[in-house]
Amino acid sequence: MIDILLVSSSPDRSRLIGIGLEASGVPHRLRIAHGTARHIRVHAAAIESADLLIVDDVDLSARELSGIEEALACSPQLHCMLVTPGPSTNLLMAAMRVGVRHVLSWPLDPREIVDALTHVANKKTAGARREGRVVSVTSCKGGSGTTLVATNLACTLAQSGAGGAEKPRRVLLIDLNQQFADASLLVADTAPAATIADLCAQIDRLDSAFFDACVMHVNERLDVLAGAGDPVKAADLRPAHLDQLLALARERYDAVVIDVGQSVNPLAIYALDHSDAVAMVVRQDMLYLHAGRRMFDIFRELGYPSTKVQLVVNAYDKRARITLETLETTLGAKIAHRLPRDEKAAVEALNQGVALVDYARKSALAQAIGALADSLWPRATVVKTSALRRLFAARPRPVHQLKTEH
Ligand SMILES: Nc1ncnc2c1ncn2[C@@H]1O[C@H](COP(=O)(O)OP(=O)(O)O)[C@@H](O)[C@H]1O
Ligand SMILES: [Mg+2]
Repeated sequence: MIDILLVSSSPDRSRLIGIGLEASGVPHRLRIAHGTARHIRVHAAAIESADLLIVDDVDLSARELSGIEEALACSPQLHCMLVTPGPSTNLLMAAMRVGVRHVLSWPLDPREIVDALTHVANKKTAGARREGRVVSVTSCKGGSGTTLVATNLACTLAQSGAGGAEKPRRVLLIDLNQQFADASLLVADTAPAATIADLCAQIDRLDSAFFDACVMHVNERLDVLAGAGDPVKAADLRPAHLDQLLALARERYDAVVIDVGQSVNPLAIYALDHSDAVAMVVRQDMLYLHAGRRMFDIFRELGYPSTKVQLVVNAYDKRARITLETLETTLGAKIAHRLPRDEKAAVEALNQGVALVDYARKSALAQAIGALADSLWPRATVVKTSALRRLFAARPRPVHQLKTEH
């Protein structure tokens, strides 16, 4: 049962929203208050006891979210949904920045209501059961090596005794690439029986047995949930699906690796938000300076502490024109890891349908991926950063401007 507080400026719309919530079938208790986003503070006492705050405001603008930001900061368990006609990109970004993950437009889409309510209900019941550590691997450009890094991290973690772990880990690799997902090709030479799109299309059936039938069992410790395969199918994936998937995955696996690919959209941001750490893969190339700088700006806007994101330089070349120093200065982040180039091993492993870390276990690249795995899944338990601390995190330091000729 979730506790919902609806703050609406119109009795007609609040009645319609009430009907929509009722039709969702998700058990809830609804309280309705009259008001707008700008004056949300007057409802502070009612918000305190809510699981979900819905703000229905036709005149909502990005500048009026400070009260909602405060409410979310004071109650880390609180979720917020905004309802407004035709939300602009500006408003969507501002909402995400303050921690709002559901922005719905009129007329309300019943599926979006179900997704949002299911998400909140799952969060409430999942509570403190989360155990498996989730790490996302992402990049700002294709071809950086995101998939090579994600797949080999997963395989490394699943190798017995990897990273000094007392017992072998059970590992899940989720291919969330929304273009042409290909992670399963790097770890096995057989086609997956099902993909994340197949699983999410029947998310209502999700239980351990259905999940087991959808994942590819690469070996006794490593499972892979293959990617949607093409952008059309990937477009049906929604944050609420991932929410259910991750809740189950955290309970069943010691380590979960997500290949997020290069997209920055609500699904990708959901994955990054709900990861304990993020590996951001770049190369020493001019184009990574521009896109990488923007990507790190987004991480800062989302309030990620610098410790959450590890900057990984792939195919490191000490003679490259773009030096490590240039990368650090431009991106405003320290380089946490360098991975050497090893084209022969990368090509041969792919041709044989095995992971590079299994094909060339002793190679410098495999060793460097091992070190990356150790730092992303440290042996000591890492204290999770609370939402409260995220929101009150110090403002980011300014980074150097890009030179115009770059
Ligand atoms: N360290 C590396 N050394 C040599 N080749 C690499 C390395 N990392 C990635 N590659 C190669 O670069 C290409 C792109 O890698 P991929 O992981 O598919 O990138 P992304 O997922 O970011 O698009 C692949 O052919 C891969 O084998
Ligand atoms: Mg890829």
